[in-house]
Amino acid sequence: MEQVEVINRVDLDCLTEITLEGQNTYLGEVRNFKTNQALEKRIPEDISISWSALPAGGVLKEHYHPCASFLIITEGEGRSLGDTVVDVKAGDVVYIPKWNLHGFEGKGENGFKALSIQFQSTAIFESEEKPETTYFDRESIPLEERQLRIIARDELPSIHEAIVNGQKHCLGTLKNFSSNNILAEAFPKNFSCSWVRLENGQTLSPHTHEEDSMIILTEGEGLFKTDRKFKLEHGDIVVVPKGASHGFSTEEETSF
Ligand SMILES: [Fe+2]
Ligand SMILES: [Fe+2]
Repeated sequence: MEQVEVINRVDLDCLTEITLEGQNTYLGEVRNFKTNQALEKRIPEDISISWSALPAGGVLKEHYHPCASFLIITEGEGRSLGDTVVDVKAGDVVYIPKWNLHGFEGKGENGFKALSIQFQSTAIFESEEKPETTYFDRESIPLEERQLRIIARDELPSIHEAIVNGQKHCLGTLKNFSSNNILAEAFPKNFSCSWVRLENGQTLSPHTHEEDSMIILTEGEGLFKTDRKFKLEHGDIVVVPKGASHGFSTEEETSF
């Protein structure tokens, strides 16, 4: 049986700038999951995922991509620049259509952290040879067809328990991204994602799945529970191979 593995955000290579079209471009922090071998092995070829961060006042200047992109804001706050100027905060899923001119600025005390996801093999800003990014003027697509769409966590319905074989199991608070039409349409069929919150001593009993999955701790801390037990913290990426038992618990004072 393959084991559960944990890789923290800080263990991933960090890119802070890149040369694009001859210009040095500030990126804040970009940490591509596939720079880690265990993650590279697990994540399907046509999915790219990175942690990204911008400090308060940090600006990722306006640009656009030939592919759509999703930014899941996990901490803090910021503002988008470009075709759509809108404030974003922790819990927002930002759908960035292809060719949308966008940049971001970190706001508040500490700017923001986010997960950036693309459904193709190359991550944005993965390499200087193929940055998947351009700062040149593009042919125009009507503005209304390339606006950012923001899906706030509070808009998604919550599920609190599951009944499996007649037995009730606590799920904490679970919000499926696919309960939103925009996200359900934009995600490929082999990808699903949800927010999960455990708090005040809630426990997710050990269980298994028939698919590979990844649990990313965006806030708080807790315990991983199954045949072994260990502490999980903020920024941890828990890789759960199919068939591997996994459960989680929190103490009164902690949550994730
Ligand atoms: Fe971008
Ligand atoms: Fe699970």
